[in-house]
Formats: sequence, structure tokens, C-alpha cells
Amino acid sequence: MNKEKETYILAIETSCDETAAAIIKDGKQVVSNVVASQIESHKRFGGVVPEVASRHHVEQITIVLEDVFKEASLSIDEIDAIAVTEGPGLVGALLVGVSTAKALAFANQKPLIGVHHIAGHIYANRLQEEFDFPLLALVVSGGHTELILMREHGHFEVIGETRDDAAGEAYDKVARTMKLPYPGGPEIDRLAQKGNDILDFPRAWLEEDSFDFSFSGLKSAVINTLHNAQQKGVTLNKEDIAASFQASVVDVLVEKTYRAAKVHQVKQVIVAGGVAANRGLREALANKFADQPMRFSVPPLSLCTDNAAMIGAAAMIAYQKGQRAGWDLNANPGLDLEMYSDR
Ligand code: KG4
Ligand code: ZN
Repeated sequence: MNKEKETYILAIETSCDETAAAIIKDGKQVVSNVVASQIESHKRFGGVVPEVASRHHVEQITIVLEDVFKEASLSIDEIDAIAVTEGPGLVGALLVGVSTAKALAFANQKPLIGVHHIAGHIYANRLQEEFDFPLLALVVSGGHTELILMREHGHFEVIGETRDDAAGEAYDKVARTMKLPYPGGPEIDRLAQKGNDILDFPRAWLEEDSFDFSFSGLKSAVINTLHNAQQKGVTLNKEDIAASFQASVVDVLVEKTYRAAKVHQVKQVIVAGGVAANRGLREALANKFADQPMRFSVPPLSLCTDNAAMIGAAAMIAYQKGQRAGWDLNANPGLDLEMYSDR
């Protein structure tokens, strides 16, 4: 039998505060995956400082690349294409990855592929199991909260998005007011497991047929509750605040995802992005879809937050479609997902 040649993609991701590289086989198998996190450096500032992030990427990128080849026991000669996150993200951070990928691809005469960061988050799920279309993706990260409908590989239709804060952003801002360390999402998640939803924070459903989200009202309600208590000298239970805030976020995310899945009669529902690591959200979605005909999947925790394996998985689709970036590929901090998918 004529065995088809395997395809190895080297992927690079530097859009925010993780310097990451991975080698992916046939778009589905992680051969090696290295992530150098900068979280410790940004903690003392309570958030990501763009200039600090860029400098760390410059320091880390060659080390991360050496490690990823070592871990894979492969050389660059065995790589078929080089993929990189082109946007959205912090421009200075993105530029480090894009310049590195271009230099490597040019020097080694390899095809170059630009990848949308959110397409990457979605494709993290394909490293676990094959997609079934139509597919609905709930993308929840520090910068995004979107419901995305996919009818085929590499094609993304945004059917709902946040009108103000992203879910992760709301987590991080509430956490900061609660004086929890950065990033606040995992801290609130941990506290929420021990608390009860007794504070009855608002849920923004918006218009009946809308799949859009809004988290700024909830964020303000939590922050006001905290400030009022402080002024009155009352101590609120942190676990209950976390549990009540999380219940409000999770209720809206789960209900809107469920409604969208029904309206569009999808075969599969996936969740992606940093907030997909949230235990409350994973559990509530799994319960909601347990007795439904559509399959529900969630990536392993390590592939929820930023990594390059997901970028390699998304790049395989572009590679198969023959999409190649030119040597003029540039960092694009505001790259639009639908425009990217119509290329
Ligand atoms: O996808 P990601 O690593 O970076 C972006 O592309 O934004 O997401 C980071 C976001 C942060 O806001 C972080 O607080 C949130 O994901 N996050 C969580 C959890 N783990 C990370 N939010 C809630 N619960 C978690 N367990
Ligand atoms: Zn991300």
C-alpha cells in the first residue's frame, strides 16, 4: 500500500504573555510542545505590560525553539511548513514570533503560514478528536468571548460576541479588586469551588434572540458590592463572592451556547480559550449537553491557555488548502476572524 507522507508543522505563538513553539504531525498529533510563561514577571504589575512581554519573547524564543526540536528529536530539514500567530494580540509581542518564523522559513526554504489566534484556540480541540460539522465553538479568553459557527474546516462565522468586556477580562478585573494575584481567572475558579452563589449578581441576557454577551454590568455590580462592604467595614466572604460571580458568568455562557447549538442544529459543541480551563464552566457545559444529540468536547487544561500546538493544528488546514504567506507577512494586532477565514 502506498503510505502517504506525514506532514510536520513547526508552529510559533507569541501573541501575549507566553513564548511557545510546537511541532505537530498531520494537524492532529502533538510531537513536542514547549511553553515559556511570563506570568511571574507580570504578576507584580497586576497584568501584562506589553513592552515587558516583547522583551521576554526576544529572550526566550531561541531557547524555546531549541527545546522543541530537542523534545521532538527532529531537525528543521524534516519540517514541511512553519506557522505563526499573525494576530490578534499585542503588536510588539506578535512581531517577535512573526519575524522569527519568517527568518526560519526564508533561511530554510520552507512554506510560511499565518494563523489567527482564535482559529488556533478552536483547533486545540482537534488535537483530541476529529470535528463534526456544523460545529459551534464557544471561545472564551482574556481578549475574546465569541460564539463561532463552523460549517467546514477553516471557515468561521461569528454569530455572537461580547459588547464590552471579554469573560477572562471580567475575571481578571474582579480578581484585582478582590486583591487576588494575576491572572485572576484561576484564583476565582479555585475560591468559587468552596463558596455558594448567594449574592444574586445580574445576568445580562440582552435581546431574546441575541447570541451577544455583556459582562461589564456584572463586573461593576461585583466591584460595587466589594466597595460598599469596605466602606461599611463589613467583611464579605471571598469564596461566596467568587462563587456568585462565577455562577453568573457560567449561566449566561452555558444558556447562550445551548440556544445557539439548538438554533443552528449543530453536531458538535466545543469550548476554547483560557476560560475554557474554568472548572465551573466545563462542568456546567458537560451537564447541559449530556442528554443532547450533539457531542460536547473540551480540550485538556494544558491546551486551553495560550500554546503553539493549537496554532500548528489550525495551520494544517491552511497548509492543505495551499494557503501560503508571503515574505511581507506582518503582525496584525486587529486581525478579523471572518476576513481571515475568507482568504
Ligand atoms: O487564552 P488565554 O491564555 O489568553 C488570551 O488569548 O487571552 O486566556 C487567558 C485568560 C485570562 O483572563 C485568565 O484569567 C483566564 O483566561 N483563565 C481562567 C482560568 N484559567 C485561565 N478564567 C477562569 N477560570 C480559569 N480556570
Ligand atoms: Zn489566547
